[in-house]
Amino acid sequence: MRILIIGEGGRESALAAKLQKDARITKMFFANGNASTEKIGQNVNLSEIHELRDFAIREKVDLTIVGPEAPLVAGLKDEFKKHDLKVFGPTKKVASLEGSKAFSKKFMQKYDIKTAKAMVFDSYNEAKAYVQDHEYPLVIKASGLAGGKGVVICDTVEEAEATIHDFMIRRLYGDAGIRLVIEEYLQGFEASIIAFSNGEKLFPCIPVKDYKKAGNGDKGPNTGGMGSVAPSPEFTAEHFADFEKNILEPTVTGLKAEGFGFKGIIFFGLMITKNGTYLLEYNMRFGDPETQVLMALMENNLLDVINDCMSNKEINLKFRDEKAVCLVMCSGGYPRNIELGFEITGEERVKDSQLLYAGATKKGDKIVSNGGRVLNIVATGATFDDARKKVYEDASHVHFDYSFYREDIGKF
Ligand code: AMP
Ligand code: GLY
Repeated sequence: MRILIIGEGGRESALAAKLQKDARITKMFFANGNASTEKIGQNVNLSEIHELRDFAIREKVDLTIVGPEAPLVAGLKDEFKKHDLKVFGPTKKVASLEGSKAFSKKFMQKYDIKTAKAMVFDSYNEAKAYVQDHEYPLVIKASGLAGGKGVVICDTVEEAEATIHDFMIRRLYGDAGIRLVIEEYLQGFEASIIAFSNGEKLFPCIPVKDYKKAGNGDKGPNTGGMGSVAPSPEFTAEHFADFEKNILEPTVTGLKAEGFGFKGIIFFGLMITKNGTYLLEYNMRFGDPETQVLMALMENNLLDVINDCMSNKEINLKFRDEKAVCLVMCSGGYPRNIELGFEITGEERVKDSQLLYAGATKKGDKIVSNGGRVLNIVATGATFDDARKKVYEDASHVHFDYSFYREDIGKF
């Protein structure tokens, strides 16, 4: 098989590393890839859907796996389908479950999926009137894709008004903010559940904990994810039962009723409060850095799982009874102002962990940083402490100027 993986983060490196040993795969292409994927296959510089399509036709790609949401929301699957090219991922319509928060909230409400109470607004004046006498905090979300920046938790009316103004009038995130979802604030802890879909049924992986804040102890600004652990030690069997009954099952019912069967990934972003497990959002793709710890523990052959999903077969996911920790090493200043282009050294001294490059690229014979989240260090162990020790020991050998990482990933 000839496989094309779209994306360039640690997530794509983890998928590539998992597929690497499969003898059935004769060639892997990465658009655009990074310093890890380059060692596994061929990085190709393509971004537009028509370029990717032409490449897949020309190179006789048998299967395309999409990492990030943007190409799916833009209709990559639809375009590839016209040319009989196989894609593991949903059509544009179904990807709207991630691409439009208004659409996904309406879907959740229609199928009685446990989620925060919310209203959708297209009118600036109505949104402004709505936030006047309300309980705070209140959560204001740009409906469209805003690169992870479209959610603001507001503590006061003034903040809410300013946010509505930023999104709807100043168009801080362009068209993404012309429609808003305003919802109740849920207090609790978060968990990510990633499920494979075979077109009819969903097969969930073990729950993962993602560390979203930049600083130790969950302080500082939100990021794309500073680390992850699996299985989430906070998410109990009771939470899972709640998730299954009130979120997973009605989602399957809704997908079926709407004719939204798809072969790909559905990722449930969950908030667990004292009243149980709530769905914050769907992502229609693998998570980053959730995928890194899932791939480290998954016993199944990933290509078998994807092939079985593609041919409507049942799958039986198995995860090793161990703990996995993924640490994200970032560029100084992330997630705000970052400087790029620093040489990364020390890979050869990483012994007990897997080093996955993310925002890092080969330049001559050097590897240099070219993104906010530069690389991941992933290890497994009998306990979180075991896995953590390996990760932090190996991280201490990897260097680039101004790098930083959280000190508390996997510390419980
Ligand atoms: P979303 O893109 O909807 O997952 O939102 C991004 C982040 O904002 C989530 O991971 C949560 O940390 C936070 N968030 C979103 N919705 C809520 C809510 N209703 N209550 C509290 N926090 C939220
Ligand atoms: N780590 C969260 C995400 O991939 O959206």
